[in-house]
Amino acid sequence: MSETFKIRKAEPDEYPGIEKIFKVQGLENNKSGVEILKGYSVEAFDKLIGGAEVMVQDGEYTFSVAVDANFKGQGIGTSLFQIVKKEIQGLGAKRIMIQAKVPAYWSKFGFLEVVDPNDVPKKFRCDDCSQYGKDCFPKIMVLDL
Ligand SMILES: CC(C)(COP(=O)(O)OP(=O)(O)OC[C@H]1O[C@@H](n2cnc3c(N)ncnc32)[C@H](O)[C@@H]1OP(=O)(O)O)[C@@H](O)C(=O)NCCC(=O)NCCS
Repeated sequence: MSETFKIRKAEPDEYPGIEKIFKVQGLENNKSGVEILKGYSVEAFDKLIGGAEVMVQDGEYTFSVAVDANFKGQGIGTSLFQIVKKEIQGLGAKRIMIQAKVPAYWSKFGFLEVVDPNDVPKKFRCDDCSQYGKDCFPKIMVLDL
């Protein structure tokens, strides 16, 4: 089954389609103060079924990843993360910081929870988000590169 999906670099005009998948998969999509550096799309049977965006927020390299519910558990998230990690390493980053909705998933890749909020830039923390603590309970996690 893993042969049936194809990951490729997306053009900026394709980002809204990728972000639609983020939204359907429950990811918050506030792009205020966020610079998108690269996007990746995943296609299967000529249909967009997942994607990733590499971003800089408040000086931290970060990313979003989502996969359509019908295609989860086939290694697509893992493949996307490997591409994103390589991309961020290539930019000379020392670490990747994420607002993790599924911390158990990211700990598989070596991400650790940041316990001291002072280690997280102010705007990267979700304090100002209306969903925070209501229907979204992310953990800030970091992977040293
Ligand atoms: C999280 C997500 C990207 C994973 O994508 P995926 O293609 O299903 O992941 P993979 O197939 O690469 O899974 C790899 C492993 O992680 C495990 N896994 C998947 N989702 C998990 C979760 N939510 N928590 C813990 N482990 C998880 C799989 O069981 C698999 O384990 P294995 O290697 O032991 O078999 C996908 O479930 C998704 O789009 N979720 C909604 C959006 C989201 O939460 N994105 C992350 C934001 S921080």
